[in-house]
Amino acid sequence: PRILLLGAPGAGKGTQSKRLADAYDIEHVTTGDALRANKDMETEYGTPREYMDAGELVPDGLVNEIVNEALSSADGYVLDGYPRNLSQAEYLTEITELDAVIYLNVGEDELVRRLTGRRMDPETGDIYHTEFNMPDDDEIRERLVQRDDDTEDVVRERLRVYEDNTAPVIEHYREEGSLVEVDGEADPDTVFDRIAAIVE
Ligand code: AP5
Ligand code: ZN
Repeated sequence: PRILLLGAPGAGKGTQSKRLADAYDIEHVTTGDALRANKDMETEYGTPREYMDAGELVPDGLVNEIVNEALSSADGYVLDGYPRNLSQAEYLTEITELDAVIYLNVGEDELVRRLTGRRMDPETGDIYHTEFNMPDDDEIRERLVQRDDDTEDVVRERLRVYEDNTAPVIEHYREEGSLVEVDGEADPDTVFDRIAAIVE
């Protein structure tokens, strides 16, 4: 299947996308991870870091290219972190067709709690949380890092950018009639079952 997973920063897109990619044997296409892996790359727009560490959107030209390339080589996929504004949504319509558009709905207090407690494994990319989900293995625990953009100030800016730019994208798919909303405020297994029920 070709799945689009929408949601605010911290809604659980990465957590659920990894599970979906495993369960359905499809590609996890994520602009956030792709940009983080190339944060200091010099482009005609400057480096991705300049935008990301401030919580701003990286210019469309750069991001569209990443997605176009990733989707052209993928049979099935779950798309995470894109589109983030209406112009990206328009571009996506030109390059692919979607089977499911799913919106993970999570309230703002819970988003902030999830983002400020998030930890990442730099070696595997696995996502953890200081309260909700920590690895048992000491070696893994010790190498966990916080994302550069998970500080309180930047989190606030990311939520603002989301409201201004990405909330209209959700409305666009809702008006089109393709959006299915999922309550994302439950444990990860329950949320996964809700998403899988839609994909089936
Ligand atoms: P990106 O990496 O996409 O960040 P984001 O959209 O802000 O989303 P997050 O990754 O923060 O949250 P998530 O929904 O994946 O949640 P997660 O599963 O990790 O983008 C980063 C930056 O890159 C942007 O700011 C921008 O600069 C740039 N960028 C990316 N795409 C772009 C684009 N298209 N255009 C322009 N610029 C772009 O979960 C969060 C935490 O909650 C974790 O700790 C997790 O363990 C925990 N958690 C998850 N699910 C649950 C649950 N059910 N219960 C309890 N805890 C949970
Ligand atoms: Zn993510």
